[in-house]
Amino acid sequence: MSEPVVVAESLNVRFADQCVLDDVSFTVNRGEVFALLGGNGAGKSTTLKTFLGTVAPTSGSASVLGHSVTSDSDFIRSKVAYLPESVMLYGHLTGMENIEYFLSLADVKRSASDIEAALKRVALQADAWHKKLADYSKGMRQKTAIALALLRSAPVLFLDEPTSGLDPSAIDEFNQLVTALSEAGSTVFMVTHDVYGACQVAHRIGLLDQGKIVGVFERSGSELIDTEQVHTAFAKRNA
Ligand SMILES: Nc1ncnc2c1ncn2[C@@H]1O[C@H](COP(=O)(O)OP(=O)(O)OP(=O)(O)O)[C@@H](O)[C@H]1O
Ligand SMILES: [Mg+2]
Repeated sequence: MSEPVVVAESLNVRFADQCVLDDVSFTVNRGEVFALLGGNGAGKSTTLKTFLGTVAPTSGSASVLGHSVTSDSDFIRSKVAYLPESVMLYGHLTGMENIEYFLSLADVKRSASDIEAALKRVALQADAWHKKLADYSKGMRQKTAIALALLRSAPVLFLDEPTSGLDPSAIDEFNQLVTALSEAGSTVFMVTHDVYGACQVAHRIGLLDQGKIVGVFERSGSELIDTEQVHTAFAKRNA
């Protein structure tokens, strides 16, 4: 039995006279990875923000684990680990210190060895753990933020461009991590413009263009979604 975890129903968002999300509907079931794929300005981050309660839907509904974004956003934030588009960490703190600080803000207690295990899992090299973030590369910061999201142990992950700034081997490691998380029962909703990455991890891909879902691609059995087919549809929309 599939259990709906992240649900959008006829979601509309308008900013002034601009329609940013236009009748968006999708369901992500427990243990699934759903990728919303679209070009710059398509409305991807706005969709995530609607689920986090920082953007209000103009009409339609959105819910996580059966709780509505309009009435239960505190509940939703407690169940979701969110990786924002721009990683917000402190340059004057080390990677370890950043993680400890943000976990304490979220009132999550983790031992130093738990944190080290998460940093290993995202393949951040051990000699960086106690260096200041100001000296990290973009990819190292991204890995730190992903480790922080993992340490929240939230059942639902919302990821905004999670592989931006990562090199190909780090992207492969990240894709394996997302697959392992979903196999362990986590529900993952990610937005991206990386066709290849989306096809590697997603059970389903929604193609978003100017606020509308214009195509849906699904795995058949254990076969990955066909990169070529998705790329062609995406490129046609952004030509
Ligand atoms: N708070 C806001 N007020 C007004 N317009 C906004 C606001 N937030 C987003 N928009 C507009 O909504 C549209 C979609 O923005 P959004 O950030 O969701 O795009 P995106 O798909 O995440 O793009 P990118 O790939 O560049 O991150 C854009 O035209 C943007 O200018
Ligand atoms: Mg965005």
